[in-house]
Amino acid sequence: MKARVSLLLVIAVVMASFGFASAQDAPSGDLEIFSWWTGGGEEAGLNALIARFKELYPEVNVINAAVAGGSGVNARAVLTSRMLGGNPPDTFQVHAGEELNALWVAAGLMEPLNDIYEANGWLDQFPEGLLDLITDDEGNIYVVPVNIHRSNVMWYVPAKLEEWGVTVPATWDEFVNVTCPALQAKDVTPLSVGENWTQAHLWESVALGVLGVDGYNGLWNGSTSWTSPEAVAVWDTYGKVLDCANDDMNALSWQDASRRVADGEAAFNIMGDWAAGYFLVDLALEPGTGFAWAASPGTDGAFMMLSDTFGLPKGVANPGAVRAWLSFLGTAEAQDIFNPLKGSLPANTTAQIDNSELYNAYFQDAYSDWTSNAIVGSQAHGLVAPPAFSNGFAAIIAGFQGDHDSATASANTAVLALQTGMVQ
Ligand code: GAL
Repeated sequence: MKARVSLLLVIAVVMASFGFASAQDAPSGDLEIFSWWTGGGEEAGLNALIARFKELYPEVNVINAAVAGGSGVNARAVLTSRMLGGNPPDTFQVHAGEELNALWVAAGLMEPLNDIYEANGWLDQFPEGLLDLITDDEGNIYVVPVNIHRSNVMWYVPAKLEEWGVTVPATWDEFVNVTCPALQAKDVTPLSVGENWTQAHLWESVALGVLGVDGYNGLWNGSTSWTSPEAVAVWDTYGKVLDCANDDMNALSWQDASRRVADGEAAFNIMGDWAAGYFLVDLALEPGTGFAWAASPGTDGAFMMLSDTFGLPKGVANPGAVRAWLSFLGTAEAQDIFNPLKGSLPANTTAQIDNSELYNAYFQDAYSDWTSNAIVGSQAHGLVAPPAFSNGFAAIIAGFQGDHDSATASANTAVLALQTGMVQ
């Protein structure tokens, strides 16, 4: 038996020295990639990544297991039952921060990836603040980020605003008191909003605009009380903002809501910059004319970030293929393939963000803000709050849509924060 093992070893060494790749060097077999990128720039970006990966690793059979539904509303439910049922996808999309840490890392279901980071020199290539979001107290890094997205963006079409005689509002007060009535008088929908999660997305932009950077951060670090007059004022403003939006919001996807702006049916939309990917790839619009952008009202100088990442769950059948995929995802090459389609900035700082042919005016502007603004984290996209909070908050957002009761929403959120361990 011993002799057979050493014979095999000798054969392996000889094969390696003649340039034969070992099984570990040349992964093969199935690789199931789980995400919620099923349309437009998001799907195009993922497909472009998969196409290049297949060129590099022709023996791997990629299975694109994307589940439709913006911001992962449906995918997360499927993922949870698979992870808890002992049938994890080989690799899955998850937001950096609490969505990763409070659930999958806390449950001990993820493999650390430090060796991949060290082998590729990534510890010096990814921003420290981003690495902090995906590293546990023992220094284990669990995922590879593919991008940096911005949440607090207001989208519009310049020629339309001119036609309607309005300008981009600098504050929510201006929007509610000046811009909104002016547009309503012309029968134009001031703000286009979509289904529940896009309302939570709008809410966080309103919160940042009303509370400012410190006040907003305080919601997540406990220094701003959810029942303080300032927090109640966020709900008051949010209610007035909703009154400026389309009645059929619950029936619209984020793409539907963004499209109304591009089509000239609504003046503004608050959405993350995957909307840039949608305008550029799906609608083939020119940045600056076909669509334009500004920080959402009252948030100039602040960049609300989130990051999409992929990791390696414990116990998958083909970890070698996953490691190859993750080792590819973090490279500048992969990030430059993906992000120009996706609307996001590369997370790897050695990517070619200064190449304006690859990254057009939208990206240049976002990058300048990313590197100069105060950075805060998104709740709607998993960075600052655990999934348990976000799920409860979705219900509070839905309740508020019906009753516009700021005091109740504030009190319910305070209780939710307590119940989900967000306030000590
Ligand atoms: C976010 C995600 C983005 C984009 C968006 C809309 O949660 O981070 O990459 O997919 O949802 O689906």
